[in-house]
Amino acid sequence: MNKTLIAAGIIIVIIIVATLAYYSMAQGGKGEESDVEKIKKRGKLIVGTSADFPPFEFVDEKTNEIVGFDIDIAKAIAEKLGVQLEVKDIKFDALIPALQNGEIDMVIAGMTVTEERAKVVDFSEPYFEADQAVLVKADNEEIKSADDLAGKKIGVQSGTTGELWVDENLVKAGKVSEDNVKRYNKFIEAILALKKGDVDAVVIDKPVAEAYAKSEGDVKVAFIIKTGEQYGIAVRKGSDLLPIVNEVLKELKDSGKLDQFLKKWFS
Ligand code: ARG
Repeated sequence: MNKTLIAAGIIIVIIIVATLAYYSMAQGGKGEESDVEKIKKRGKLIVGTSADFPPFEFVDEKTNEIVGFDIDIAKAIAEKLGVQLEVKDIKFDALIPALQNGEIDMVIAGMTVTEERAKVVDFSEPYFEADQAVLVKADNEEIKSADDLAGKKIGVQSGTTGELWVDENLVKAGKVSEDNVKRYNKFIEAILALKKGDVDAVVIDKPVAEAYAKSEGDVKVAFIIKTGEQYGIAVRKGSDLLPIVNEVLKELKDSGKLDQFLKKWFS
């Protein structure tokens, strides 16, 4: 055997060993079951969401079940795994901690892929793009641009990119005092506060703002904030669930199913 062959052999062995070591570490050490093994054994995929985000996830008033665009995607993932789906309603800023402590297997919640979040979870390929919007009462003629938010009371959902935008662009810029930013666990609460007049505006993802404006009637979209966010599904770092989630997303896209879901929930 010549030297090149031996060297190539050694390199291949090193790559194989390193890959195996990496995956076993990613699964939390030797002997532990992988996420997919655990889910299959349990016969159930446990998904966390914040069910206040129509049409992505919300409670169907008739059936009392959590439904929506994201939930249809979650169903397809459970189907692929050959297991049942359980959806847990968790406040948005507790979703990533719930994922990390093993309470849920995956987060699908119209969650924007951000650098900060990607430090602690793994995100799927993006499956939706959205901007932010500002919701006001239907009879509000005063708020038409970001400048008009100066000195106003603003409602946000805790832990969202809308909250981040308000902190960065209004609070840090000295336009709105910290006291005038009202942070809610659920968007529903922020919408109710808007209707009651406890806040003047709510910053929320555009597709959801439009859905609320349509269903509530007494609120409207005042203006759009172009943020170009991408939604991703989150799993634990190194989870073997990620490739399956990506495969399902690709299949849904390629088969036109994702478009069907869009039509079903957005028209
Ligand atoms: N896209 C925004 C974010 O990631 C808001 C998501 C809120 N989702 C929800 N289900 N309430 O921060």
